[in-house]
Amino acid sequence: MELHAMDRYIKSLIKEAGHKIRNSFISDITIETKSDANDLVTNIDKEIEQFFIERIRRDYPGHRIFGEEGFGDAIDDLSGVIWMLDPIDGTMNFVHQKRNFAISLGVYEDGKGKLGYIYDVVNDDLYHAVEGGGAYYNDEKLKSLAATSIEESIVAINASWLAPNKYIDHEAAIGLVRAVRGTRSYGSAALELAFLASGRIDAYVSMRLSPWDIAGGAVIAGEVGAVTTTFTGEPANLLKQDTFIAANPSIHNRMLSDYIRLK
Ligand code: IPD
Ligand code: CA
Ligand code: CA
Ligand code: CA
Repeated sequence: MELHAMDRYIKSLIKEAGHKIRNSFISDITIETKSDANDLVTNIDKEIEQFFIERIRRDYPGHRIFGEEGFGDAIDDLSGVIWMLDPIDGTMNFVHQKRNFAISLGVYEDGKGKLGYIYDVVNDDLYHAVEGGGAYYNDEKLKSLAATSIEESIVAINASWLAPNKYIDHEAAIGLVRAVRGTRSYGSAALELAFLASGRIDAYVSMRLSPWDIAGGAVIAGEVGAVTTTFTGEPANLLKQDTFIAANPSIHNRMLSDYIRLK
């Protein structure tokens, strides 16, 4: 795979898709629900996924595509080249706020992350990485993450972290909220990973994420030294929904051992 040619191709594809999404702000969009009343999807999520898939199939036949809205391939193994795409990550923000959402894309070869992209469409901010070449915020090369402590960290969570739930021990989870300097909740896993990679937060935890939520961000965050695993410390799951933590390497172990206890 010629990564640098692909990188140029993908950047222009993402910018074109971003342009389409910004144009949608002046037309009516159709909003539907999926698994429950708060799980939203719009015609734009679907159209953007179809736009990527048409281009990828035309220009990279032989590659497979794993997309949230289901227009790609059924993926149950990681062999070959797979594009993992979330056409709009943060659909609730897209619908309600018209900001704080992103296009997220990771390209993997035999399960190994090669290229990663997170495009903050409204701010025209692109985070990207080519394996081994470092991570970038637009044209700025991002620094490797400096060591920190839990006590000085800002950790991104969502509200489910604060309520008793079937996944993790509630007291330990609340202990994390008490221990850290601050918590944040942005509503887009991809942007939360971009903020980790750019040093604006120190960790991001979620009880349930899908491969397309994390694929692009894991490549980008990995290039600056962040560690991405499940809550049991296994490599992040790229085939199905699972628990997920991405953190500065100096706090990852302690977050898992002291604050995240699976039920
Ligand atoms: C969602 C966002 C959200 C996360 C959810 C995801 P979507 O993705 O990343 O922040 O908490 O688990 O499903 O559905 O907006 O692409
Ligand atoms: Ca969704
Ligand atoms: Ca998503
Ligand atoms: Ca989505």
